Amino acid sequence: METQLLSNYEIDKAVKFLKDGLLVSFPTETVYGLGADATNTEAVKKVFQAKNRPTDNPLIVTVSSIEMVEDFAIVNELARKLMTYFWPGPLTIILPIKQGTLDMIVTGGLKTVAFRNPDNETTLKLIASFGKPIVGPSANLSGTPSPTTASHVYQDMNGRISAIIDDGSTKIGVESTIIDMSNDYPVILRPGAIDENMLKSVIPKVGIDQHNVADNETPKAPGMKYKHYSPKAKVIIIDSTHQFLSAIEYSTYNENSISVLATEQVLANLPMDITKYSLGRDITSATHKLFSGLRELDSINGIKVIFAQAFSNDGLGKAYMNRLDKAADGNHYK
Ligand code: TXA
Ligand code: MG
Repeated sequence: METQLLSNYEIDKAVKFLKDGLLVSFPTETVYGLGADATNTEAVKKVFQAKNRPTDNPLIVTVSSIEMVEDFAIVNELARKLMTYFWPGPLTIILPIKQGTLDMIVTGGLKTVAFRNPDNETTLKLIASFGKPIVGPSANLSGTPSPTTASHVYQDMNGRISAIIDDGSTKIGVESTIIDMSNDYPVILRPGAIDENMLKSVIPKVGIDQHNVADNETPKAPGMKYKHYSPKAKVIIIDSTHQFLSAIEYSTYNENSISVLATEQVLANLPMDITKYSLGRDITSATHKLFSGLRELDSINGIKVIFAQAFSNDGLGKAYMNRLDKAADGNHYK
C-alpha cells in the first residue's frame, strides 16, 4: 500500500478513506494521531496491527463535540465542566461507557472510554464531516517516540496506512493530559500540557496516579506498563546542566558516539565535535522538540548515547520529564 500525503484542504479524500474502513493519520495540537472509524471493528483492528500495539492497550476516542461523547458515555457534571473549560484542547477525559455502544476492542475490555477533542481545525472538520468519532492513538509504531510531524508518521507508517494529513509540526509536542473522571475522585493518569493546578482551578479535587505498574497487573492507563519512546541509543538524563561536561569527559563511549539533547545555553558551552540537537530556550520549546530530537539523534549513524537535559518536575516540566524518564528507562547520570 502506498501511503498518500494529503494537505489540510483534502479532507474529503480522508473522509472517504475512513468510510471505507481504512486508516488516516491526522494532526492534533499534541502529536499526530492514527485515525479509523471508532464504530467499525475491522477498521479498529487494523489500527492495532499497523502500530504493533498489544490489544489490551485501549484506544482514545476522538470527537468533534461534547454531543458526540454523549452517544457513548454518561457525562457527569464535573466532566462536563472540564469539557466546557478545556475543549478543544490537550485533555483526555475517561468516562464510564454506555454498554453496547462501542466494541470492547476499542476499550481493551474496560468499562470506561477515553475521549479527546483536539484543538486542530482540520481534524475537527474531518470528524464533523465524517459524522462519527475516530480512534486516535499516537501514529507511531508501538515503542518509538510519538510523531510530531507528518514525516515522522511517514517514517513509521509508510505502507501500513492509507493517508497522512500534513498540517506541519504539532504545537505542544507531547501527548494530552489524561484524567480519569469515571470514579468519585478524579485522577490524572498521564501528565500533559494541562497541569494539576489548571485542573484544580475548575474542579475541586484532583489526584495523581504515581503508581509504577508491574507487568502482571491491569494498570489504570494500560499504556503505562509498556516500554515507551525508546530510541535505539541509550538515553541518560543529566539532572544539572553543569554535569554535561563531566558526563562527556568521563564517558566510556567514544566521542563520535556521544550526542547531547539540551537547550541553546547548554550547547553553547560544549565541545565543538559532539553531536548536538537543540531544545531551544525553555521548557515550552524543549517539550515541543523532545520527541523529534530523540528521533533525529537516533537516526545518526554511530550514535550510541544521548545525554538529555532534565527540567524541573512541575507544570509542563512534569509532562516533559514523564516522557524523558520513559525514554531513558529511568537512567540518570550520577
Ligand atoms: O495527545 C494524545 O492524547 C494523542 C493524540 C493523537 O490525540 N493520543 C495518544 O493516544 O496519546 P495513545 O493511544 O498513544 O495513548 C493513550 C493512552 C494509552 O496509554 C492508553 O492505555 C490510555 O490512554 N487509555 C485509553 N483508554 C483508556 C481507558 N479507558 N482507561 C485508562 N486508560 C486508557
Ligand atoms: Mg502513544
